[in-house]
This record gives sequence, structure tokens and C-alpha cells, in this order.
Amino acid sequence: MTTQNQRKILVTSALPYANGDIHIGHLLEYVQTDIWVRFQKSRGHECYYVCADDTHGTPVMLRAQKEGKTPEDFIAEQQANHERDFAGALIEFDNFHSTHSSESKELTQGIYLKLKENGHISSKTINQLYDPEKNMFLPDRFVKGTCPKCDSENQYGDNCDNCGATYNPTDLKNPKSAVSGATPVLKESEHFFFDLKGFESFLREWLSSDGHVQSEVQNKMNEWLDDLRQWDISRDAPYFGWEIPGEEGKYFYVWLDAPIGYMASFKNLCDKTDGLNFDDYWQQGSDAEIYHFIGKDIIYFHTLFWPSVLKGAGYRTPTAVWAHGFVTVNGQKMSKSKGTFIKAKTYLEHLNPEYLRYYYAAKLSSKIDDFDLNLEDFAQRVNSDLVGKLVNIASRCSGFITKQFDSKLSSETIEPALLKEFTDSSEQIAKHYEARDFGKAIKLIMALADKANAYIAEKEPWKLVKNEATKAEAHLVCSLGINLFKVLVTYLNPVLPALADKVQDFLQLDNMNWDSAQEVLTDYEINKFKPMMQRIEMKSVEKMVENSKEDLEAEVEQPSKSKLSDPIKDEIQFGDFDKIDLRIAKIAKAEHVEGADKLLKLLLDLGEGVTKQVFAGIKSAYSPEDLEGKLTVMVANLAPRKMKFGMSEGMVLAAGPGGKELWILNPEDGAQPGMRVK
Ligand code: 2FM
Ligand code: ZN
Repeated sequence: MTTQNQRKILVTSALPYANGDIHIGHLLEYVQTDIWVRFQKSRGHECYYVCADDTHGTPVMLRAQKEGKTPEDFIAEQQANHERDFAGALIEFDNFHSTHSSESKELTQGIYLKLKENGHISSKTINQLYDPEKNMFLPDRFVKGTCPKCDSENQYGDNCDNCGATYNPTDLKNPKSAVSGATPVLKESEHFFFDLKGFESFLREWLSSDGHVQSEVQNKMNEWLDDLRQWDISRDAPYFGWEIPGEEGKYFYVWLDAPIGYMASFKNLCDKTDGLNFDDYWQQGSDAEIYHFIGKDIIYFHTLFWPSVLKGAGYRTPTAVWAHGFVTVNGQKMSKSKGTFIKAKTYLEHLNPEYLRYYYAAKLSSKIDDFDLNLEDFAQRVNSDLVGKLVNIASRCSGFITKQFDSKLSSETIEPALLKEFTDSSEQIAKHYEARDFGKAIKLIMALADKANAYIAEKEPWKLVKNEATKAEAHLVCSLGINLFKVLVTYLNPVLPALADKVQDFLQLDNMNWDSAQEVLTDYEINKFKPMMQRIEMKSVEKMVENSKEDLEAEVEQPSKSKLSDPIKDEIQFGDFDKIDLRIAKIAKAEHVEGADKLLKLLLDLGEGVTKQVFAGIKSAYSPEDLEGKLTVMVANLAPRKMKFGMSEGMVLAAGPGGKELWILNPEDGAQPGMRVK
């Protein structure tokens, strides 16, 4: 490639939260990005892939407290876990950093000061509800009360589940703190706002031009653009994050510094890489390309706030933001009880990462649709395509080359037209990779693999080799087979880098970059073939699912950071809803469970002598003695399921972001055990 055609590309994946484990849902995004980056590199472009842990905010602070660690120690441990999982999944970052870094602090504060200097920051004293018992301001979702529009009770402070109205928490009638149950008081606090509204015309132009966002995303945008508001970028102490310069006790909201983490990680890479210059990529007018791969839940932050912040602070804006859909497993949302909420670590203990990389690639397109990882289809597809078709080409041909032909490929090509068909597919396949239509690329590659197998099956080299008169033809056929195999593996290298490494060894190649597919190996010595990939055994998949069930012990979920980041589950019919039997239950007994970090064992009294045993993941928020005698709401007709610590015969309803902020529903006085809730 001439340097003239060489592109400069910076690529990011969304920063994982420091307080969560990487799971196979996350891996979709990292695999998608990693394949795209490896493809660009193999085409000879200058391409950097950076990421970091997203370390700030209240949940990390609380989780560290709960574990008796400093936030710094806690995030360092989590980062090591994340990096271990990414390496296991063959995700090859050029840099993996942290938002709790000097680069992040400097850039975040610098960007804020530029925004301020350019007139995009205002401050306003707002009246916010304050919990006088807990001495903290209450975020909207932590206030509950009666809807000001429809009088429906027990509604959150930002919108009503019953009538859909949106409002301020101060509009709620009879508000209560969801943290302590106390009646909140109004307290003044100065907050800082980014003038998102002032970027409306810039955003309208940016979003509708040059493929900055996918067309499906563009369609959603108008709704949002009509309703842009000032964005509150400050939070009061205590908060784990960066202090706002000159404003003691005020911190940047985590979602301001999160995307700046992309820049911070790249800055850190530049500082340790000769000749790599931060400004070449980020200054206005830069000819470098910048792409953000994200999940569809965080489109709002990346396509409205982020370009506006960059623009307002005088930086260039991204070339494109590309969102993907979510993975379902066996047709349903990943579920801890079904064992389909599979952590990367658990997956890697049972299965080869390339199986998942291949299956994801085969399913991925440039669209934001969700797609299903059906575990049987997964095993069947990987076995059939990779073991049965791809590796089979080499294993069928290589033995003869080694044993009968002195490990040397023939000096001529027997079917040049067939080989040409393979090498001529290069640009078509590349086009699909470039467009993130990996599924289409895989389809073309596998169609070629079918042709190679059909050719070998027709020629039957195992027969030709037995006869002196046809032995030379067997040599030609097997040599062609190895060459076809090499072309296919070169095309699959971005998806299957470990397999490509083995093939590189087997064929004694310097590299398997994209253009190397065009080089034919003739009169060429190869190494002895070693098995390259095992079939997936369904029992390994089943074991992985079983072990994921053991991981069940309620994970603490992240609180939602925007109304869009917590996608609503698939619509159900009233009939489905009506099947749920919600009952008032009295917590007759609550006990610690030996060996469980998060679970409490509850004995629930439903009246009339009916009791149920339930394991509930609420230990972070309650001690057993706080619970005994309290009323709560339970799903009484949930089928019993076996958990690691025993049978659980129902589900207690609780709400909140997790950790200490998790509240079981407390029915009003006057409720009796056994009463129906609806
Ligand atoms: O939604 C999330 O998982 C966030 N941690 C993503 C942040 S991406 C970027 F903005 F930093
Ligand atoms: Zn309402």
C-alpha cells in the first residue's frame, strides 16, 4: 500500500463500568470492534484501538466502601480482571487505560474550562430534594410519591409508570426518600449546566450529514432534537470523580468524563509511542478518522452530548458513531437463573474464544438489530463451518504433502481459474468488512470453502495418490487445496487471529495480511499439520451454562444513567402480566447464608399457614434483623428453582440501583399477609 492511501484511524469501544464483570453481551461489541480494527490493520492502515475502564460515579464509590477498599484499589483490581478477560477473548487494544488517570483529569478539566470560556456553561441554584436522615441530595429515581397528573401512588420522581407523565421530583405529591423513607426537604444547591440546547442547529446538521450516524439512528433523532435541554453536568460531594475547578465540593457527573476517557486513553498511548501525536487526531480539521462503536442504549450520550461537547471545546467531532443491538441467548434476554448470563471468564473456562468470535461475526451486520445466540445453533454452526469445512481442507490435503511429497507443494497450479476465483473475491469481502457487514463477508468466505471441499471431494486425491500414474495429480490437487485454505484463512484472520497464527506456522509465512492472499505458494515447503481446532462438545456448553447458574448470586446491577440506558423488555400481553400473582408477605425469618456474599434466606409468611422460602439478593442493603416482621411484596407463583444454596420458591420485589440502595417494596400499613396486590 502506498502511504498516500494509508488512512489514520482511531477506534474505540464503549468503556466498561469498573464495577461490573465483562459478560458475553459486552463481548459482542469488543469482538465487533476488534474484528474491524484487525481488518484495517491487515489492509495496511495506521489504526489504533483504545479503551479504558469507566471508573467514576456513586456505584463504584459505594461498592468500594462495601468491600472495605479505597475506590482506587477497587478499580485497579477490576481493571486487571477486565484486561484478563479481554486478552482471553483475543481483543487486542493498542491501549487500555482508566478514566481515573492524570490524562482524564487534565482533559476533563481542560474541556470544561474551554466550554466555560466559550460561554457554554451556566450555573444555577436549584432546589433539590434532600434526605435529612441520610444527609444527601436525592437523585430523581430515589424519590417516590404520588403522580401529580393521575394520582397513582408509589411513582418515581421523574416519570409515572401509570400515565407516562414526566415531571420533576418536586412535583410529586407526598414524596418519600427511597433511601431512608424519610420525607425529603427542599434544599438549595448550585449546579452547573452544559448548554446542549445551544447546539441544536449544529446537531441537526451533523446528524443528517456524512454518515455520522446509521440511518435507523437518524430517524430517532428528530424526536430528541425537538426536546433538547440544558445538561446538568455537576454532582454534589460525596462523589468519586473529578472536582470541578474552582468549585469546591462539586464534581463532574460521570457521563461527562466517560467519553473524554477515549481521548485520555489515546493521549496516554501517544505519550508512550514515538511519532504518534494527539493533536493530529483530535484537533479541528484533522484528516484522521475517529469511530466510536457503542451499544444502542448509549446513543443519546454519543450522538448529542459528545459531539456538542467536542465542538464547544474546540475539538474535531467523530467521523461516525456506530451502534449495535443486543445479544439474546436462546431467544431471550440473558438470564442469571437460566444460566445464560454468561461472564467472559466463565465462557473462557469452557470454550475457545474463536468459536464466539466466529459466531458473532457470522451474525453481525451494520444494523442495530438485536440478534440471538442460540447455543445449539452456535455449536452446530461452528462445528460445521470451522471444523467441518475450513480446517477440513487442510487436514485432508496436508498428510499427503508431508508423507508422499517431501513436505513440498507442487511447482504448478492445477486449476488456476479456481484459485483466481478465490483471490478475486478479495475486494468484495473487504467491502463487507469495511461496512461492518461481517455476516456477508463470512457468507462469501464459506461459499468458497464449500467450493474447495467440493473440488477435493470430486478429485479424491486419496485415490489418486495410490496409483503411480495419477500420483502427480494428487500432488497438484493437494497443493491447490492448501493454497485455497491459505486464502480463506487470510480472509478470516480478523475474526480468527489465533487460528491464523497456527496456519502461519504451518505454512511458514511471515504474515497473513490482506494482500498476502494474492501470493501463491508453489514449490514451497510446509510444516507438518497439527490439529488446529476441536469441535464444540455440547457438554462443554451445558457445563458453562450450569456454572453460570452458580454465578447467580445476584449481581449488583448498574443504576441506569439515562432513561434510554435501561431498555424496556419486550412487550407482553395483559394475559402474561395477569399470570403474575403478587401477594403481600410477612418476612417471618431472615438469615445469612453461609458462603453467599449477596443473598439472604427469607421465610415468607403468606397467611393461613402458607410459607415460602426465598433467596433474595438484598444482603448489601439489609441486615436480617432489619427485615424480620416487615411486610413486602412477592411473586408468589414463580416456579420453584434450585439455587446453589437451596430451593427458592418465589421472588421478593425490590427496587433501586443496587448496593446499599436497594429497597424491598413496603406495603402500606393495613396490608395483611396473603392479600393480593393487584
Ligand atoms: O454504558 C456503559 O457501559 C458506560 N460505561 C459506557 C461509557 S462509554 C463512554 F462514553 F465512555
Ligand atoms: Zn401518572
